[in-house]
Amino acid sequence: MAGYLVEDTRKVTTHRLFEMKQSGKKIAMLTSYDFSMARIVDGAGVDVILVGDSASNTMAGNVTTLPITLDQMIYHARSVVRGVKRALVVCDMPFGTYQIDPQDAVRNAVRIMQETGCDAVKMEGGVEILPAIKLILDAGIPVCGHLGLTPQSINKFGTYAVRAKEENEAAKLCSDAKALAEVGCFAIVLEKIPAKLAEKVTKSVPVPIIGIGAGGACDGQVLVVHDMLGMNQGFSPKFLRRYANLFEVMTDAIGQYVTDVKDGDFPNENEQY
Ligand code: KIV
Repeated sequence: MAGYLVEDTRKVTTHRLFEMKQSGKKIAMLTSYDFSMARIVDGAGVDVILVGDSASNTMAGNVTTLPITLDQMIYHARSVVRGVKRALVVCDMPFGTYQIDPQDAVRNAVRIMQETGCDAVKMEGGVEILPAIKLILDAGIPVCGHLGLTPQSINKFGTYAVRAKEENEAAKLCSDAKALAEVGCFAIVLEKIPAKLAEKVTKSVPVPIIGIGAGGACDGQVLVVHDMLGMNQGFSPKFLRRYANLFEVMTDAIGQYVTDVKDGDFPNENEQY
């Protein structure tokens, strides 16, 4: 495909992710929330694009992920899907769309799949949400799990600190990961947990484990694209590696445009009809 950085431009499937784990090939995952960014992220060779409910923070400016609605997630996911040829697109099920009633959860997951054209959904939680996950899988919809720091439960945790440092929480996380894999989740995101624990889960669970703040032993890594591109200056947790400083690049470019307009330098003779 023209403009693609990777040679293997076949569409990524859940089955290929499983093969990548088996053959020890790492999985690269990033978020996207709109068409233009998704096109760049896909073309650069990212294997999985997550339409994260972090859109609530990055796109809408909310403090938490809780306010984003199903309709808003569908809008973001539909825009992303239009920009993607190769990556597997996963859409987060937002807060309140799967925790209340498993039947409702299937209806909401079906809406996401039908109205966006994405490939899978992601849900936060362990055995508590297993009935909903089972029904969604029974409907033929691939599910990615999410354990550790689950931002939809931030009000219960009361802090964004590292999760599962204590033995009982670590043991629950291990049994949750096992249960999610056994029921048929195609992958599990582990967020902000000790690297040793993530390594143990990665080695003991047959499905791909994607880490964020969970160390290098995971089968793959995910970051919020705005964070790794340096567009979000106020957020710098230890696990984040910044690959660019787009906040500065964009501010400089826009500042130059303002100067050029005010000085009467833009547009020049070649930039008019
Ligand atoms: O919503 C999101 O961006 C996420 C990632 C942080 C994994 O769930």
